[in-house]
Amino acid sequence: MTEVLPSTEEGIARAAGLLRDGALVAMPTETVYGLAGLARDDRAVAGIYEAKGRPSFNPLIVHVAEAAQLEDLVEVPAVARPVIDAFWPGPLTIVLPLKPGAPVSPLVTAGLRTLAVRMPAHPVARALLRGVGAGVAAPSANPSGRISPTTAAHVMAGLDGRIAAVLDGGDCAVGVESTILGFPEGRAVILREGGVTAEALAQVLGYTPRHRAEGDAIDAPGQLASHYAPQGRVRLGVTRPEPHEVYLGFGDMACDLNLSASGDLAEAAANLFRHFHAMDARGAERIAVAPVPEEGLGAAINDRLRRAAAPR
Ligand code: TXA
Ligand code: MG
Repeated sequence: MTEVLPSTEEGIARAAGLLRDGALVAMPTETVYGLAGLARDDRAVAGIYEAKGRPSFNPLIVHVAEAAQLEDLVEVPAVARPVIDAFWPGPLTIVLPLKPGAPVSPLVTAGLRTLAVRMPAHPVARALLRGVGAGVAAPSANPSGRISPTTAAHVMAGLDGRIAAVLDGGDCAVGVESTILGFPEGRAVILREGGVTAEALAQVLGYTPRHRAEGDAIDAPGQLASHYAPQGRVRLGVTRPEPHEVYLGFGDMACDLNLSASGDLAEAAANLFRHFHAMDARGAERIAVAPVPEEGLGAAINDRLRRAAAPR
Protein backbone atom coordinates (compact mmCIF):
# COMPACT_ATOMS: atom_id res chain seq x y z
CA MET A 1 0.00 0.00 0.00
CA THR A 2 1.35 3.42 -0.96
CA GLU A 3 0.60 6.14 1.61
CA VAL A 4 -0.31 9.62 0.35
CA LEU A 5 1.24 12.03 2.87
CA PRO A 6 0.25 15.70 3.19
CA SER A 7 3.11 18.21 3.11
CA THR A 8 2.60 19.16 6.76
CA GLU A 9 5.37 19.00 9.34
CA GLU A 10 4.14 15.52 10.34
CA GLY A 11 3.86 14.31 6.75
CA ILE A 12 7.36 15.51 5.91
CA ALA A 13 8.78 13.96 9.12
CA ARG A 14 7.10 10.64 8.28
CA ALA A 15 8.52 10.73 4.72
CA ALA A 16 12.00 11.55 6.05
CA GLY A 17 11.77 8.64 8.50
CA LEU A 18 10.74 6.23 5.74
CA LEU A 19 13.69 7.37 3.61
CA ARG A 20 16.16 7.03 6.49
CA ASP A 21 14.86 3.47 6.97
CA GLY A 22 15.64 2.66 3.33
CA ALA A 23 12.08 2.89 1.93
CA LEU A 24 11.12 4.68 -1.29
CA VAL A 25 9.12 7.92 -1.23
CA ALA A 26 8.00 10.09 -4.14
CA MET A 27 8.76 13.75 -3.39
CA PRO A 28 7.60 16.97 -5.00
CA THR A 29 10.21 19.22 -6.62
CA GLU A 30 9.69 22.39 -8.66
CA THR A 31 10.44 20.45 -11.88
CA VAL A 32 8.69 17.07 -11.58
CA TYR A 33 8.07 14.55 -8.78
CA GLY A 34 11.13 12.45 -7.92
CA LEU A 35 11.23 8.82 -6.74
CA ALA A 36 13.54 9.21 -3.75
CA GLY A 37 15.74 6.68 -1.97
CA LEU A 38 18.78 7.02 0.30
CA ALA A 39 21.74 7.48 -2.09
CA ARG A 40 24.22 5.53 0.08
CA ASP A 41 21.88 2.54 0.51
CA ASP A 42 22.39 -0.14 -2.19
CA ARG A 43 19.05 -1.79 -1.50
CA ALA A 44 17.10 1.47 -1.64
CA VAL A 45 18.77 2.44 -4.92
CA ALA A 46 18.20 -1.01 -6.40
CA GLY A 47 14.56 -0.61 -5.35
CA ILE A 48 14.29 2.64 -7.33
CA TYR A 49 15.41 0.90 -10.53
CA GLU A 50 13.01 -1.96 -9.82
CA ALA A 51 9.99 0.26 -9.09
CA LYS A 52 10.56 2.25 -12.31
CA GLY A 53 11.49 -0.73 -14.47
CA ARG A 54 14.50 1.39 -15.47
CA PRO A 55 17.47 -0.12 -17.35
CA SER A 56 20.26 -0.36 -14.78
CA PHE A 57 22.79 1.51 -16.92
CA ASN A 58 20.93 4.79 -16.56
CA PRO A 59 22.44 6.73 -13.62
CA LEU A 60 20.52 8.80 -11.05
CA ILE A 61 20.70 12.39 -9.75
CA VAL A 62 21.59 12.87 -6.07
CA HIS A 63 19.53 15.60 -4.39
CA VAL A 64 20.94 17.67 -1.53
CA ALA A 65 19.48 20.19 0.96
CA GLU A 66 22.52 22.50 1.06
CA ALA A 67 25.16 23.45 -1.50
CA ALA A 68 27.84 22.61 1.11
CA GLN A 69 26.95 18.88 0.77
CA LEU A 70 28.34 19.03 -2.76
CA GLU A 71 31.92 18.90 -1.46
CA ASP A 72 31.34 15.45 0.12
CA LEU A 73 30.18 14.04 -3.20
CA VAL A 74 32.15 15.52 -6.11
CA GLU A 75 35.25 17.52 -7.06
CA VAL A 76 34.04 21.05 -7.75
CA PRO A 77 36.12 22.98 -10.30
CA ALA A 78 36.20 26.78 -10.11
CA VAL A 79 34.37 27.03 -13.47
CA ALA A 80 31.28 25.40 -11.93
CA ARG A 81 30.98 27.84 -9.01
CA PRO A 82 29.26 30.77 -10.75
CA VAL A 83 26.37 28.66 -12.09
CA ILE A 84 25.93 26.91 -8.74
CA ASP A 85 25.81 30.28 -6.98
CA ALA A 86 23.40 31.69 -9.55
CA PHE A 87 20.96 28.79 -10.00
CA TRP A 88 20.93 26.78 -6.75
CA PRO A 89 18.49 26.01 -5.34
CA GLY A 90 16.71 25.51 -8.65
CA PRO A 91 16.17 23.40 -11.78
CA LEU A 92 19.87 22.89 -12.61
CA THR A 93 21.73 19.57 -12.23
CA ILE A 94 25.49 19.53 -12.48
CA VAL A 95 27.64 16.54 -13.45
CA LEU A 96 31.12 16.50 -11.86
CA PRO A 97 33.84 13.93 -11.05
CA LEU A 98 32.79 11.60 -8.21
CA LYS A 99 34.92 11.97 -5.09
CA PRO A 100 36.59 8.75 -3.91
CA GLY A 101 34.74 7.49 -0.83
CA ALA A 102 31.65 9.60 -1.51
CA PRO A 103 28.61 8.22 0.38
CA VAL A 104 26.88 7.02 -2.78
CA SER A 105 25.94 3.48 -3.85
CA PRO A 106 27.75 2.44 -7.06
CA LEU A 107 24.27 1.75 -8.46
CA VAL A 108 23.62 5.52 -8.46
CA THR A 109 26.35 6.26 -10.99
CA ALA A 110 25.85 2.99 -12.87
CA GLY A 111 29.59 2.69 -13.39
CA LEU A 112 30.35 6.28 -14.44
CA ARG A 113 33.14 8.25 -12.77
CA THR A 114 30.93 11.31 -12.59
CA LEU A 115 27.93 12.08 -10.39
CA ALA A 116 24.90 14.26 -11.14
CA VAL A 117 23.87 16.49 -8.22
CA ARG A 118 20.96 18.88 -7.78
CA MET A 119 19.64 21.14 -5.02
CA PRO A 120 15.90 21.54 -5.61
CA ALA A 121 14.12 24.79 -4.72
CA HIS A 122 10.72 23.34 -3.73
CA PRO A 123 10.25 24.14 -0.01
CA VAL A 124 8.78 20.68 0.72
CA ALA A 125 11.72 18.95 -1.01
CA ARG A 126 14.16 21.08 0.94
CA ALA A 127 12.45 20.36 4.27
CA LEU A 128 12.41 16.66 3.43
CA LEU A 129 16.09 16.60 2.44
CA ARG A 130 17.04 18.46 5.62
CA GLY A 131 15.03 15.89 7.60
CA VAL A 132 16.83 12.99 5.92
CA GLY A 133 20.22 14.63 6.48
CA ALA A 134 21.89 12.75 3.62
CA GLY A 135 21.91 12.71 -0.18
CA VAL A 136 18.82 11.26 -1.81
CA ALA A 137 18.90 9.62 -5.25
CA ALA A 138 15.80 10.46 -7.28
CA PRO A 139 14.84 9.92 -10.90
CA SER A 140 11.50 11.25 -12.08
CA ALA A 141 8.75 9.25 -10.37
CA ASN A 142 7.30 7.59 -13.49
CA PRO A 143 7.61 4.08 -14.88
CA SER A 144 10.63 4.10 -17.23
CA GLY A 145 9.92 5.60 -20.66
CA ARG A 146 6.62 7.16 -19.61
CA ILE A 147 5.53 10.71 -18.89
CA SER A 148 7.11 12.46 -15.89
CA PRO A 149 4.64 13.22 -13.05
CA THR A 150 3.78 16.80 -12.10
CA THR A 151 1.13 15.92 -9.48
CA ALA A 152 0.87 13.34 -6.69
CA ALA A 153 -2.04 11.77 -8.62
CA HIS A 154 0.26 11.20 -11.63
CA VAL A 155 2.71 9.42 -9.32
CA MET A 156 -0.04 7.20 -7.92
CA ALA A 157 -1.30 6.36 -11.43
CA GLY A 158 2.14 4.95 -12.32
CA LEU A 159 3.61 3.61 -9.06
CA ASP A 160 0.78 2.87 -6.58
CA GLY A 161 1.68 -0.23 -4.58
CA ARG A 162 5.34 -0.14 -5.69
CA ILE A 163 6.63 2.54 -3.28
CA ALA A 164 6.07 3.27 0.43
CA ALA A 165 4.63 6.76 0.09
CA VAL A 166 4.11 9.88 -1.97
CA LEU A 167 4.51 13.27 -0.32
CA ASP A 168 1.87 15.53 -1.88
CA GLY A 169 3.33 18.98 -2.57
CA GLY A 170 0.76 20.06 -5.16
CA ASP A 171 1.46 20.90 -8.81
CA CYS A 172 5.07 21.31 -9.98
CA ALA A 173 5.65 24.94 -10.98
CA VAL A 174 8.33 24.40 -13.66
CA GLY A 175 6.89 21.20 -15.14
CA VAL A 176 9.92 20.01 -17.15
CA GLU A 177 13.00 18.36 -15.65
CA SER A 178 16.16 20.16 -14.61
CA THR A 179 18.77 21.29 -17.10
CA ILE A 180 21.81 18.98 -16.86
CA LEU A 181 25.19 20.67 -17.23
CA GLY A 182 28.65 19.05 -17.34
CA PHE A 183 32.13 20.60 -17.43
CA PRO A 184 34.36 18.39 -19.57
CA GLU A 185 37.62 20.18 -20.35
CA GLY A 186 36.63 23.12 -18.17
CA ARG A 187 33.75 24.42 -20.27
CA ALA A 188 30.03 24.04 -19.70
CA VAL A 189 28.18 21.54 -21.91
CA ILE A 190 24.41 21.00 -21.85
CA LEU A 191 23.56 17.29 -21.50
CA ARG A 192 19.81 17.87 -21.26
CA GLU A 193 17.69 20.97 -21.85
CA GLY A 194 15.48 21.84 -18.90
CA GLY A 195 14.18 24.41 -16.47
CA VAL A 196 17.21 26.73 -16.69
CA THR A 197 17.49 28.13 -20.21
CA ALA A 198 20.68 28.28 -22.30
CA GLU A 199 20.18 32.05 -22.47
CA ALA A 200 20.17 32.36 -18.66
CA LEU A 201 23.27 30.15 -18.39
CA ALA A 202 25.06 32.25 -21.01
CA GLN A 203 24.50 35.40 -18.94
CA VAL A 204 26.35 33.86 -15.99
CA LEU A 205 29.01 31.93 -17.94
CA GLY A 206 29.86 34.71 -20.36
CA TYR A 207 29.44 32.31 -23.30
CA THR A 208 26.64 30.18 -24.70
CA PRO A 209 27.13 26.60 -23.49
CA ARG A 210 27.14 24.14 -26.34
CA HIS A 211 25.23 20.86 -26.46
CA ARG A 212 26.98 17.56 -26.04
CA ALA A 213 28.36 16.19 -29.32
CA GLU A 214 29.53 12.69 -30.33
CA GLY A 215 33.05 12.02 -29.06
CA ASP A 216 32.78 14.50 -26.14
CA ALA A 217 34.68 13.52 -23.00
CA ILE A 218 31.41 13.21 -21.07
CA ASP A 219 28.63 10.64 -21.18
CA ALA A 220 24.91 11.34 -21.47
CA PRO A 221 23.66 7.78 -21.04
CA GLY A 222 20.01 8.50 -20.34
CA GLN A 223 19.17 10.53 -23.38
CA LEU A 224 17.06 7.95 -25.22
CA ALA A 225 15.48 9.10 -28.46
CA SER A 226 12.04 7.82 -27.46
CA HIS A 227 10.98 9.01 -24.03
CA TYR A 228 8.41 11.08 -22.15
CA ALA A 229 5.80 9.50 -24.37
CA PRO A 230 2.03 9.50 -24.08
CA GLN A 231 0.25 6.35 -25.34
CA GLY A 232 -0.97 7.99 -28.54
CA ARG A 233 1.13 8.68 -31.62
CA VAL A 234 2.46 12.24 -31.71
CA ARG A 235 2.87 14.54 -34.75
CA LEU A 236 4.70 17.87 -34.35
CA GLY A 237 4.64 21.32 -35.91
CA VAL A 238 1.00 20.93 -36.95
CA THR A 239 -1.00 24.01 -37.94
CA ARG A 240 -3.94 22.09 -39.49
CA PRO A 241 -4.82 18.99 -37.46
CA GLU A 242 -6.65 16.05 -39.07
CA PRO A 243 -10.22 15.44 -37.82
CA HIS A 244 -9.20 12.25 -35.96
CA GLU A 245 -6.35 13.97 -34.11
CA VAL A 246 -6.49 15.51 -30.63
CA TYR A 247 -4.91 18.95 -31.07
CA LEU A 248 -2.48 20.32 -28.47
CA GLY A 249 -2.23 24.05 -29.11
CA PHE A 250 0.10 26.90 -28.23
CA GLY A 251 -1.02 30.52 -28.36
CA ASP A 252 -4.38 32.00 -29.29
CA MET A 253 -5.99 29.23 -31.42
CA ALA A 254 -8.79 26.70 -31.58
CA CYS A 255 -7.59 23.38 -30.09
CA ASP A 256 -8.55 20.58 -27.68
CA LEU A 257 -5.98 21.44 -25.01
CA ASN A 258 -3.75 24.51 -24.96
CA LEU A 259 -0.20 24.62 -23.54
CA SER A 260 -0.61 28.38 -23.11
CA ALA A 261 -3.34 30.43 -24.75
CA SER A 262 -1.30 33.59 -24.16
CA GLY A 263 1.85 32.06 -25.71
CA ASP A 264 3.76 32.05 -22.40
CA LEU A 265 6.57 29.43 -22.51
CA ALA A 266 6.82 29.06 -18.71
CA GLU A 267 3.10 28.28 -18.55
CA ALA A 268 3.51 25.88 -21.49
CA ALA A 269 6.33 23.99 -19.71
CA ALA A 270 4.23 23.69 -16.55
CA ASN A 271 1.30 22.30 -18.59
CA LEU A 272 3.24 19.97 -20.94
CA PHE A 273 3.27 16.71 -18.95
CA ARG A 274 -0.10 17.50 -17.35
CA HIS A 275 -1.63 17.67 -20.82
CA PHE A 276 0.18 14.48 -21.90
CA HIS A 277 -1.35 12.72 -18.88
CA ALA A 278 -4.77 14.15 -19.81
CA MET A 279 -4.35 12.82 -23.37
CA ASP A 280 -3.68 9.35 -21.94
CA ALA A 281 -6.68 9.65 -19.60
CA ARG A 282 -8.99 10.39 -22.54
CA GLY A 283 -7.45 7.56 -24.61
CA ALA A 284 -6.13 9.82 -27.41
CA GLU A 285 -4.64 7.63 -30.17
CA ARG A 286 -3.43 10.43 -32.46
CA ILE A 287 -2.03 13.68 -31.08
CA ALA A 288 -1.12 16.73 -33.17
CA VAL A 289 0.99 19.47 -31.58
CA ALA A 290 1.17 23.10 -32.69
CA PRO A 291 4.61 24.68 -33.30
CA VAL A 292 6.35 25.97 -30.16
CA PRO A 293 9.09 28.62 -30.56
CA GLU A 294 12.61 27.32 -29.90
CA GLU A 295 13.78 30.19 -27.66
CA GLY A 296 14.06 30.13 -23.84
CA LEU A 297 12.09 27.28 -22.21
CA GLY A 298 10.86 26.40 -25.71
CA ALA A 299 14.14 24.47 -26.20
CA ALA A 300 13.30 22.10 -23.31
CA ILE A 301 9.65 21.83 -24.39
CA ASN A 302 10.61 20.98 -27.99
CA ASP A 303 13.21 18.46 -26.76
CA ARG A 304 10.48 16.61 -24.79
CA LEU A 305 8.06 16.86 -27.74
CA ARG A 306 10.63 15.40 -30.17
CA ARG A 307 11.22 12.45 -27.82
CA ALA A 308 7.46 11.94 -27.44
CA ALA A 309 7.15 11.85 -31.25
CA ALA A 310 10.20 9.62 -31.87
CA PRO A 311 9.65 6.10 -33.26
CA ARG A 312 9.16 3.58 -30.41
O1 TXA B 1 14.28 17.67 -12.62
C1 TXA B 1 14.89 16.61 -12.51
O2 TXA B 1 16.09 16.49 -12.85
C2 TXA B 1 14.15 15.41 -11.93
C3 TXA B 1 13.80 15.71 -10.47
C4 TXA B 1 13.15 14.56 -9.78
O3 TXA B 1 14.95 16.14 -9.79
N1 TXA B 1 14.92 14.22 -12.04
C5 TXA B 1 15.13 13.59 -13.23
O4 TXA B 1 15.81 12.40 -13.11
O5 TXA B 1 14.73 14.03 -14.29
P1 TXA B 1 15.87 11.32 -14.27
O6 TXA B 1 16.55 10.15 -13.66
O7 TXA B 1 14.52 11.07 -14.84
O8 TXA B 1 16.83 11.97 -15.32
C6 TXA B 1 18.17 12.16 -14.98
C7 TXA B 1 19.05 12.14 -16.17
C8 TXA B 1 19.10 10.78 -16.85
O9 TXA B 1 18.94 10.97 -18.25
C9 TXA B 1 20.51 10.27 -16.55
O10 TXA B 1 21.04 9.47 -17.56
C10 TXA B 1 21.27 11.57 -16.39
O11 TXA B 1 20.38 12.41 -15.73
N2 TXA B 1 22.47 11.40 -15.56
C11 TXA B 1 22.52 11.01 -14.28
N3 TXA B 1 23.79 10.92 -13.86
C12 TXA B 1 24.58 11.28 -14.90
C13 TXA B 1 25.98 11.41 -15.10
N4 TXA B 1 26.85 11.12 -14.14
N5 TXA B 1 26.43 11.83 -16.32
C14 TXA B 1 25.53 12.13 -17.31
N6 TXA B 1 24.19 12.02 -17.18
C15 TXA B 1 23.72 11.60 -15.99
MG1 MG C 1 12.97 10.77 -16.16
